[in-house]
Amino acid sequence: MHILHVVGARPNFMKLAPVLRALSTRNNVRQTIVHTGQHYDANMSDVFFQQLGVPAPDVNLAVGSGSHAQQTAGIMTRFEAAVLDRKPGMVLVYGDVNSAVAAALVCAKLQIKVGHVEAGLRSFDRTMPEEINRLVTDQLADVLFTPSEDGDLNLAREGIAKEKIHLVGNVMIDSLVRLLPEALKHGRNGFPESYALVTLHRPSNVDDGGTLSEILQSLLEVSKNLAVLFPAHPRTRQRLEAFGMDARQLRVLDPVPYVEFINLQRNATVVITDSGGIQEETTYLGVPCLTLRDNTERPVTVSQGTNILVGKDPEKLRIELESILQGNAKRGTIPPLWDGYAAERIARVLVD
Ligand code: UD1
Repeated sequence: MHILHVVGARPNFMKLAPVLRALSTRNNVRQTIVHTGQHYDANMSDVFFQQLGVPAPDVNLAVGSGSHAQQTAGIMTRFEAAVLDRKPGMVLVYGDVNSAVAAALVCAKLQIKVGHVEAGLRSFDRTMPEEINRLVTDQLADVLFTPSEDGDLNLAREGIAKEKIHLVGNVMIDSLVRLLPEALKHGRNGFPESYALVTLHRPSNVDDGGTLSEILQSLLEVSKNLAVLFPAHPRTRQRLEAFGMDARQLRVLDPVPYVEFINLQRNATVVITDSGGIQEETTYLGVPCLTLRDNTERPVTVSQGTNILVGKDPEKLRIELESILQGNAKRGTIPPLWDGYAAERIARVLVD
């Protein structure tokens, strides 16, 4: 059996790693990795491959940045040639990034089977590019691996046949479970005793000057009580510079490698983010998370985990932060099947 994995953006790499490992223990499975090149900076890509123990991609489509249409079309054109050349029996796509929807669309037209890892998540907010990617990818996929029960319900509602859906748990947590001991070896590593760890990259938060400025003001307020460590996504850094905004009062860092970032999360007093995966990682780690969004495609992080949606309301952020600083942080539990064995369950479905 030949399985071809398609990844392209930072959050894909920690999902690929455990699936690759689980499948590598099976006989008669050949694996190929295609990197679309959606993320290309070494600190957004190469360092993750190294730390996660993922071999260098067999193919790099080097598509780079562009508008959604340019990037998606670029991946489709280049991926079509690559997949025709490699002739896999199954293509696995990960998450909700442009690389996933582009590859799924190519495979559907070529009648190559597609598996979607992290299927069924819905924010019900179609202004979010990822929501479009999720909806389309799930309609096209032949096998859908969900991280939590809400995913199964969403897919059933959209008319996806039950036999295609497999509730396997969260593969991102597989990587976290495996590398947490390594991460904790880093200790406090020169960062403050207590701090807020901030990440921000959603177009809805950073592309509009007015919105970004309001969020920045809120973070500057936070920094009066608590050090703020802010590893900035390239997109966010560019926007801050383009809008001429001064974030020097925050400790703005370059993107942090995976293992160091897990350690930063584990030791944070609070994580403030608009990321998807970080809502999940903080829930697993039991670290309070304030999410700068009005909705989430990962509702179990709110219903069961440590996540609270504060939207863009500075007052809500202030109130929730105060409550955390007073020792009244929300205590969560770890959702079912977020146990480090999700990829093993995927391998069982695909091969055994
Ligand atoms: C993408 C995903 C998003 C995911 C995020 C994680 C889509 C639609 N979005 O968003 O779901 O949460 O990755 O990071 O697929 N850039 C660099 N170097 C890089 C990569 C990007 O400088 O290695 C800059 C470029 O200016 C680029 C911008 O960041 O235009 C945005 O990159 P892009 O891949 O389009 O989307 P992300 O915002 O990273």
